[in-house]
Amino acid sequence: MPKLTVENMGDFEVPAGTRLVNALTDIVKIDQFHACGGHARCTTCRVQFEHGEPIKITEAEKNIMKDRGLATQPGMRLSCQILCDHDMTIRVISRWKGTGAKDAGGRPADVIEPPPVWLEKTAGS
Ligand code: FES
Repeated sequence: MPKLTVENMGDFEVPAGTRLVNALTDIVKIDQFHACGGHARCTTCRVQFEHGEPIKITEAEKNIMKDRGLATQPGMRLSCQILCDHDMTIRVISRWKGTGAKDAGGRPADVIEPPPVWLEKTAGS
């Protein structure tokens, strides 16, 4: 199983193919914010990669990160658009508590939504 290392929280074994946002909620058991429910519309599920940033990116992630001015932030990615299929080390940067929102967001589906169109991640995209 891939290993997910979360800075200051430890190492976690995650079943291959788990959406990163669901791994953070279900396995790491933190209040990862995901306001749009995993649909690549809000960017509140963003995390900071230290190691193992995926080289693939969904078209939906690429587009909203560009629209929100986040595409040029090194290592910043949307956890709802990433599958745990290799070892990765991240820093949690967007938690629900203290935001004022009524909850962390609706339960994301087990599969990536919208249906992913995979692109190659390039610098600044
Ligand atoms: S973009 Fe909203 S939960 Fe990922």
